[in-house]
Amino acid sequence: MEKLKHVISTRQFDDSEFLLGLFESANRMERDDVFRALTGPLRGRILATLFFEPSTRTRFSFEAAMQKLGGGVLSAEDARDNSSATKGESISDTIRVVSGYADVIAIRHYEEGTAEAAAKNSPVPIINAGDGAGEHPTQALADMYTIKKELGWLSGLRVVLVGDLLYGRTIHSLLPLLCLYTGVTIDLISPLSLRLPPQYREYLTKKGITFNESESLEGVIEQADVAYITRVQRERFALQADYDAVKDVYVINAETANRMKPQAIIMHALPRVNEIAPDVDANARAAYFRQAKNGLYIRMALLQYLLS
Ligand code: CP
Repeated sequence: MEKLKHVISTRQFDDSEFLLGLFESANRMERDDVFRALTGPLRGRILATLFFEPSTRTRFSFEAAMQKLGGGVLSAEDARDNSSATKGESISDTIRVVSGYADVIAIRHYEEGTAEAAAKNSPVPIINAGDGAGEHPTQALADMYTIKKELGWLSGLRVVLVGDLLYGRTIHSLLPLLCLYTGVTIDLISPLSLRLPPQYREYLTKKGITFNESESLEGVIEQADVAYITRVQRERFALQADYDAVKDVYVINAETANRMKPQAIIMHALPRVNEIAPDVDANARAAYFRQAKNGLYIRMALLQYLLS
């Protein structure tokens, strides 16, 4: 795989060997965590986080990752209201200016395609930290790293994706990475109004991945190695009534979790609303808080890769 300058889509990661190397690097970051800031491989380098949509995990883990690697951080946590975007500055101009201060920029934006457009004008690496209902590639890298750590294998997985497959950008980014492994079967479980968009279904077909679509989890979750639950993305709905109609269609509780295979895991990019009941948290299958922590290590590995 060619050295990446920008990280916009998981379709750029078309080599499972590269992914394995990134996972090993993330594993080293985790193992040597306490010493990393002392050796400071990114000392003197600066990450700018431009977030035009709210975030807890992605922004904090990017900023923690950079600081643990010895680098510095410039942060616009509410760029929609508190950057010069409010005065009408274009993303292109913002990137041109910020790239004069920072060595790498992580951008989250409410419009799909913004990160890709930003990369076109940027002399420094752009990382897509979520673009509308488009993609969230670093979340998907953290997700694959989590599956590898939790289960120990990636080929032959049965993965059930549940909830908002229409707007769920983590799902859109996860699919190309799952397609890198043989024998993967994907169950797409959603209400009809939140089905996976056609371009992603066509992608799975092109890659020869077996997938099934259903509105019901019955008889499916019992077979899963991974149940990946998503939040219905309220912020993408034009009408509250449309959101209300689907918001609580799937709720995983302790009883559902206990129907799963003993070694299976339950994932969620978080934040959750009602889709995973708190009584699941104590179940050993609940991997979502470990998944959130893994985001730190994979982002450390990615920053080191992009800036070395
Ligand atoms: N998983 C995720 O993107 O979380 P945040 O929105 O809190 O960054």
